[in-house]
Amino acid sequence: MTQPDSRKRRPPKSVTIRLVTREVDVPGGVSLLSALASIGGRAIVEGNYCGAGECAHCEVIVLNHRGHKKSVLACKTRVEPGLRVVRLSRYLEADLSK
Ligand code: FES
Repeated sequence: MTQPDSRKRRPPKSVTIRLVTREVDVPGGVSLLSALASIGGRAIVEGNYCGAGECAHCEVIVLNHRGHKKSVLACKTRVEPGLRVVRLSRYLEADLSK
């Protein structure tokens, strides 16, 4: 039986991510969709998002560590410090602008 790794780090309470043209502080240890909901208010919480990787309404383009663009689902992507989102789905863009 293995012992729990006491060196495992807890997610930070808050992380800064780049959201297209601005930097925002969001809760750490949550999905990108939840993080966006924390700054997007009720529009995202009440929006048309399955939260299960099935609708693709949360699809965003991020830059990976090498600076290459990658399409990911915000509901299936955990926020990390320095995450760079360069493009939002039209659903997220509309909900974040409300
Ligand atoms: S919210 Fe439906 S795929 Fe992410």
